[in-house]
Amino acid sequence: MVNISTYYDEHPINQVAIENALIRLGKSLENLVPEDLFDFDQDHYGGLAAVDALATSSPVQAGDRVLDVCSGMGGPARYLAHNYGCSVTGIDINQLRTAAARQLTSRVALGEKVSFVCGDATKMPFESKNFTKIISQEAFLHIPDKASLFANCLRVLQPGGCLTFTDWIASPRLTDIERGALGEGMAATAIHDENDYVNFLSSAGFVDAQSEDISAWWSEILRERLRMYQTKKEETENLFGVSRHREFMEAYEIFVQAMEERRLGGARFKAFRDI
Ligand SMILES: C[S@@+](CC[C@H](N)C(=O)[O-])C[C@H]1O[C@@H](n2cnc3c(N)ncnc32)[C@H](O)[C@@H]1O
Repeated sequence: MVNISTYYDEHPINQVAIENALIRLGKSLENLVPEDLFDFDQDHYGGLAAVDALATSSPVQAGDRVLDVCSGMGGPARYLAHNYGCSVTGIDINQLRTAAARQLTSRVALGEKVSFVCGDATKMPFESKNFTKIISQEAFLHIPDKASLFANCLRVLQPGGCLTFTDWIASPRLTDIERGALGEGMAATAIHDENDYVNFLSSAGFVDAQSEDISAWWSEILRERLRMYQTKKEETENLFGVSRHREFMEAYEIFVQAMEERRLGGARFKAFRDI
């Protein structure tokens, strides 16, 4: 089984790929602005529109102290800080991605508003009530210990603060074979149905937990995302080997098909820490 570190250490969206794309566009890496990165550094479905949907629902405002849980290479964190005027802290378990997040942030001079911690979301090293908002995208599917994850989210959120996130949701028709293949191939070891998620949030102590099914939107855009990964074949093979790219694509094909046939879906969740 691919473990969570290997999966993201050898992922087609990575710092080298981002920098190669910018160089192909004729950009100097020493002279970048935040907008230069936004087409390349968002490792979730729906790009900036998806970050805007979370930010609007929350709502994120200038003056907020936002925590991005599982922040990857920091694309959403930089976008939120740059476009909404808030400060953002990201936490991610992957060392390479955290280092990339810091370097890309410094390249676009957002270091005063955006910072990153390498750590496990189930053991957050932050003081209680430190953040006014929390967001996350397409990451909790990797975290089986939802009780610790959401207990930490609640603890570090100010009273009245909002947690919003998107994630995969399972329909009862998702087969055990598919669950096994997605665990093996995409480190997706913790896929839940929509009601389970709302119950996890309520059990952790969140109030007003609500969800919105966004499966239709995701199933429209994921086939295109699969094609995008196909265009990265040569680059990914050069970085991580032929078999890694093949394994990645095989698992992603299973994922996209399950989304299109609605055995898998996506949802946007929102919940609050009580005042
Ligand atoms: C699909 S990426 C999303 C990255 C980012 N949210 C974005 O939209 O660009 C999922 C991220 O979750 C991180 N992750 C997985 N398990 C984690 C955990 N237990 N604690 C912190 N980060 C975790 C991975 O390292 C990866 O960077």
